Amino acid sequence: MRPVLWHDQASAPAFTLRAGAVVEVTEAQPASAAAIAATVAAAGFEARRVAVPTGSASATILTEGLTNVAADARHWATLVAARAARREGGLTLLLQSADAWSGLEGLSRTLRKEWPESRAFAWTLPPGGEALVAHALRSGYADGEISFTGTLSVPSPGPSLAPPSVIPGASPGVWLVTGGARGVTAACAIELARRAGGTILLAGRSAETPWPADLPDTGDLKTLRGLLVDRFRQSGARVTPAEIDRTARNLLAGAEIRETLAAIRKAGAEGAYIPLDAGDGVAVSGALSQAQAKWGQITGWVHGAGVLADKLAADKTEAELRRVFAPKVGGVMNILAALDAAQLRYIAFFSSAAAFFGNKGQSDYAMANALLASAGRSLARTVPEAQVKVFHWGPWAGGMVDGALASHFEAQGIPLIPLDEGARIFVSELLGGAPEQVELVVGEAWATT
Ligand SMILES: NC(=O)c1ccc[n+]([C@@H]2O[C@H](COP(=O)([O-])OP(=O)(O)OC[C@H]3O[C@@H](n4cnc5c(N)ncnc54)[C@H](OP(=O)(O)O)[C@@H]3O)[C@@H](O)[C@H]2O)c1
Repeated sequence: MRPVLWHDQASAPAFTLRAGAVVEVTEAQPASAAAIAATVAAAGFEARRVAVPTGSASATILTEGLTNVAADARHWATLVAARAARREGGLTLLLQSADAWSGLEGLSRTLRKEWPESRAFAWTLPPGGEALVAHALRSGYADGEISFTGTLSVPSPGPSLAPPSVIPGASPGVWLVTGGARGVTAACAIELARRAGGTILLAGRSAETPWPADLPDTGDLKTLRGLLVDRFRQSGARVTPAEIDRTARNLLAGAEIRETLAAIRKAGAEGAYIPLDAGDGVAVSGALSQAQAKWGQITGWVHGAGVLADKLAADKTEAELRRVFAPKVGGVMNILAALDAAQLRYIAFFSSAAAFFGNKGQSDYAMANALLASAGRSLARTVPEAQVKVFHWGPWAGGMVDGALASHFEAQGIPLIPLDEGARIFVSELLGGAPEQVELVVGEAWATT
């Protein structure tokens, strides 16, 4: 486990743009594009404002991330523009504003892995900081934040930390744990119940489907499909393989929800399940106001909801990006709109090492998680009474990491985080970690892949 530390970029750029080099600036945010083109021209480059990058410039500066459209549209537009700007040896700068929660560094880090022949970096600009871009061009190419003096401040993982050995108790509160009924967040919710008690409200899309009394117990999808085929055959019902699969998955989800609730109660907390799509703002608002009327003010929030739609950035579709952004980014926005953030004492976001290091096939997932980190850093400032933690998890031995993915990581020498260990790290950091360490990278060796 390593804290994420920020420091000024000290080294000179690994390469420089020659005087007179063509620098294209996209017009997505026209006022910013004009200011950036002026500062780039004044620095001795040939600045050209373009609607769409031509893919022939030495450097391309993208302003799509500076617009004030919704986060998914902003990130998608930047991905599309970065595709057009792609060029062997070319530099692409993805700009985002410090005024809006953004995660374009998830994209630049992923593109550097997917397109090693081009160089992509994400810069966060302070409000009105367009004139600083040319200055930052000289201070070096890395993902980071440009200060008001034009210095580039970059994050890197600090030294290895052991989780705190003494975990202070938390006064019993009401916790909302999205994604907490299933997957790795469920293991964390159970450990949280053990350490913090109180009431743990688990939220997920799945229904708590009851297990038919005449169906033998099994947790194995393949076995269950077989049992359902026999059962439908005996009853004479005609069902498709897709329906069998859906029924089996629903039954397993229901069983997993009940198991998590039972384990939470056994650990000494109150547990309840709220069927809820975190990406649906109306549903979130209704469900959370009902939940708070019944169980009291929510004072702890763990956001673990997430899905994958892996595909290389060159082929990714807008629908896939929206699917990945909905539970993570939409979920955070919807829940913050429905809760009184000032009442929160604990906030934990489940991000991924993919956000911090990039990962082939995961540009949308890396952006969504990097955006969560930007939201976490911002909440740590605006809700100072809350302990805010963003966990950039490496791969766990569970949840999204199925058998095939586990073998893939193991073949690369990337150790998986055991469920019990990850859950203990989560609780000890959330309840007892140093408040100033908002972001943590958990798991080793990812950076080398
Ligand atoms: N496992 C890993 O190795 C790993 C590594 C890095 C980061 N993470 C992060 O850790 C979190 C949990 O991952 P996991 O591996 O446990 O994944 P998982 O097994 O696929 O579980 C995902 C969880 O999110 C819930 N969820 C998905 N979409 C939702 C929505 N729209 N609204 C509400 N709940 C939703 C799911 O419940 P329903 O299906 O019932 O909605 C489920 O509980 C994710 O945020 C993931 O990005 C995991």
